[in-house]
Amino acid sequence: MPSVNPHIITDNGTQYSLGTLDKNIIRYDFKKMLVFLEAKGKMLFGERFRIYKKDQKVLYKLCAYVIGDKVKCAEYGVDLTKGILLAGPVGCGKTSLLTLAPFMVPHQRSYEVVSTRDLVWDYSRTGYKVIEDYGSSGFFCFDDLGVELIGRFYGKECNVMREVLLSRYDLFRQSKRKVKTHATTNLSEEELEEVYGVRVCSRMRELFNWIVFEQTSTDKRK
Ligand SMILES: Nc1ncnc2c1ncn2[C@@H]1O[C@H](COP(=O)(O)OP(=O)(O)O)[C@@H](O)[C@H]1O
Ligand SMILES: [Mg+2]
Repeated sequence: MPSVNPHIITDNGTQYSLGTLDKNIIRYDFKKMLVFLEAKGKMLFGERFRIYKKDQKVLYKLCAYVIGDKVKCAEYGVDLTKGILLAGPVGCGKTSLLTLAPFMVPHQRSYEVVSTRDLVWDYSRTGYKVIEDYGSSGFFCFDDLGVELIGRFYGKECNVMREVLLSRYDLFRQSKRKVKTHATTNLSEEELEEVYGVRVCSRMRELFNWIVFEQTSTDKRK
């Protein structure tokens, strides 16, 4: 049964309130959202998980997007009809963050985080169907865009993610309630352009809000 108080989350016996209810409208509190993110991050990724001050800008943008805060999103230049492309250096926490984000809004439809490497691997075993499966419906976050290999099915080469992104773009343009796509990448815009081409990259700008970690964001693997 859907909760009437989706901003109050009970997890592992602890209750987290992400905001307050004001005449049926939830007023989310960003600081409380970060408290929850840290707690949930510790549960999923271990005690070392914490919120870094350096990442605050990225976190605020992401939180505003996740709860659909129109005012804050306008301020941050985030378009609520698009998906998120979380970019930044290796190990800064992109995959972890996009894995955590849906837990803040349990009443919303979530997405599946799919590794681009696995997707291309799947293509190499089963062929074009994979592009259809991920391109023409569903809610996905494509993890690690641009570093996957070229797919090969019975000797036929294919830039699988490029095809998937093109299909997702069509899906996004054609659907009335825009079907969003999310992704993470270690690459810069120029590097992505090299992998997928100028045309696909320009479509990616329509498909995604690019939220970029500071280049100096800590590598949390270390
Ligand atoms: N905020 C954080 N605090 C502590 N450890 C983190 C944090 N974010 C991620 N990690 C850990 O750092 C490693 C890299 O995170 P990951 O999300 O895979 O980075 P990326 O996807 O940017 O390469 C993982 O082991 C993860 O558990
Ligand atoms: Mg990653």
